[in-house]
Amino acid sequence: MRCHIVRMLRAQRRHTSFHTPGHKRPGADITELPYSDDLSDPTGVIAAAQADAARILGSDGSFFLTDGSTSGVFSMLYALRLRGCRRICVPTYAHKSVFHACEALGLDPVLLAQESAQGYPAQPGQRALEEGLAQADALLLTSPDYYGFFAPLRQARALCDAQGKPLAADGAHGAHLHFTSAYAGRYADLWVDGVHKSLPALTQGAVVSARGAWVAPLQEAVGYFRTSSPSYPILASVEYAVKYPRNLAVERAAEKAKRALGALANDDWTKIVLPFGASADAAEAYLERHGVYPEFNDGNYLMFYLSPASRVGDVRKLVRLTRGLHREPVCAAPALAGRAAGEVAEVSPEEAVGRTCARACGIVPPCVPLIAAGEVVTAQKAARLKGARHTFGLRDGRIAVYREQ
Ligand SMILES: Cc1ncc(COP(=O)(O)O)c(C=O)c1O
Repeated sequence: MRCHIVRMLRAQRRHTSFHTPGHKRPGADITELPYSDDLSDPTGVIAAAQADAARILGSDGSFFLTDGSTSGVFSMLYALRLRGCRRICVPTYAHKSVFHACEALGLDPVLLAQESAQGYPAQPGQRALEEGLAQADALLLTSPDYYGFFAPLRQARALCDAQGKPLAADGAHGAHLHFTSAYAGRYADLWVDGVHKSLPALTQGAVVSARGAWVAPLQEAVGYFRTSSPSYPILASVEYAVKYPRNLAVERAAEKAKRALGALANDDWTKIVLPFGASADAAEAYLERHGVYPEFNDGNYLMFYLSPASRVGDVRKLVRLTRGLHREPVCAAPALAGRAAGEVAEVSPEEAVGRTCARACGIVPPCVPLIAAGEVVTAQKAARLKGARHTFGLRDGRIAVYREQ
């Protein structure tokens, strides 16, 4: 399928730049010029590319983002706010952008209970959805999640319809599913696709979409949260990625690898999640010595991220390298203690053990709480945070806990 933005970029004539960006090397990285269109008010190649994306993704309006799914999450939540929603039912282990947006926009998150028996957060069940949505004006689900599980979108849609409430989906990891019935956009009123994660787009490329009456508030919202200086290389890559064909050979290789490696029996072929328990760090170090980098190591699991641009040979290499590696049993996470209240103190991970966490914190990626607000901090999780390369929710390595304990 024709890529309008790439064609425009290729057809440019050399010119002298008295415009941004300041590197003064006009090429793919240009700004709003008479022939390049304007993301904030598109009428040319960007309008054509977004219209094609809307057709492919099945929306009534799709908006390209060059600031990641984060700006899509903010835009969706602001659109909900514009239509009067104040209490948003969200998974306890939603991405940090969901909690940040709720905080910034003055929205009240109603947490959906999620089990985490095998050391990763399971998708919320029907009962949690019913109880959560009853207390909220709207529902937001993450589908698929970073561990490759789909949210119960069909049930969520039915519940939202029954209660006349909107459904939003954080599909930061699900853009490649638009060919299938598991695609969040088939169920949600508003959804974001992080095309840079599971399709071949440049980092930060994403699309946020809506259906019916949600297009207008979403369009208003993206105007608030999207940069006014969008990157044309990213825009071009978003269009390319949305039009990228399905790769059944790599999908089959991934499913075969999962079976051969005893991976988590998840729903999504792009996420191979291997249980290593306490030997996760050693396995990661071994793979890095062989030039193989997983997406993340959460201390229990190593997660390997594929896309339609992955090569079957690389999947086979992963099987060869990981098949014989030593594994320990995974550590289950404790149940949430429920939200406590009171004054907050920031303490070292060692001092935090046994106390109730006051601000969600975790490892980057997956950027979901390793310790959710309201969870009792265990020695194992405190040690994991202390040893992690990149974290969020900590300040100077200190964990926020409630004082009164
Ligand atoms: C579930 C989920 N939502 C949203 C985001 C934010 O995406 P981005 O990094 O593209 O801003 C992420 C990023 O990891 C994510 O995992």
